[in-house]
Amino acid sequence: MSYNNGTFITFEGGEGSGKSTQLKKIAHWLDGQGIDYITTREPGGAPSAEIIRKLLVEGDTDRWQPITEILLHYSARAEHIAHTIGPSLEAGRWVLCDRFADSTLAYQGYGHDFDTQTIAQIHQATVGKLIPDLTLVLDIPVHTGLERAGNRNQGEDRYERMGVDFHDRVRAGFLELAAKNSNRCQVINAEQTMDKVFSDIRTIIEDKLGSRLS
Ligand code: TMP
Repeated sequence: MSYNNGTFITFEGGEGSGKSTQLKKIAHWLDGQGIDYITTREPGGAPSAEIIRKLLVEGDTDRWQPITEILLHYSARAEHIAHTIGPSLEAGRWVLCDRFADSTLAYQGYGHDFDTQTIAQIHQATVGKLIPDLTLVLDIPVHTGLERAGNRNQGEDRYERMGVDFHDRVRAGFLELAAKNSNRCQVINAEQTMDKVFSDIRTIIEDKLGSRLS
């Protein structure tokens, strides 16, 4: 499958960073630009992957062995790529994806302190050469994000319940990943107003992918 025809943008960040809201605003903006796009999310984004999502976002925080949890995320991702992301990119669409593989490194790697080399091997076997054209990392202090998220997610709060120390490691992980992959990652201060975050993201997309917008 050729992924190069399309444009793959991932939205990453901790709990309550506002990435889902911003993804919708960017989708609306792309409507005005006449861009053919889809919006999707992880874990999930395909019927089979949504079944796996429920196993991950509900229930006791310690219900899975760390390796099981990683394999479940990558199982969902394999389904998502095969059924949704891959065909859309092949057809030349833009794919706006709410979370992708950086979330596994941040949450399971940094958050749960799981060996990142092992995650990289699973990644290679599952995702191969599919790399986002642009990754937007929405950064927010943990307490602010958890407060926002707490008002929202009913029943899908398994990760929110993992404690502040866990989420501190996730946040630090995202920032380290963004620094290591500065060619594709941009960090946005998500504590700003919704409109300012939106205009920052729009500027980044125009700067990086402007030639594809016309
Ligand atoms: P969401 O709340 O953004 O829909 O994401 C669901 C939860 O899944 C969120 O708390 C982060 C977590 N997650 C991981 O731990 N690893 C992953 O690879 C992904 C995609 C999500």
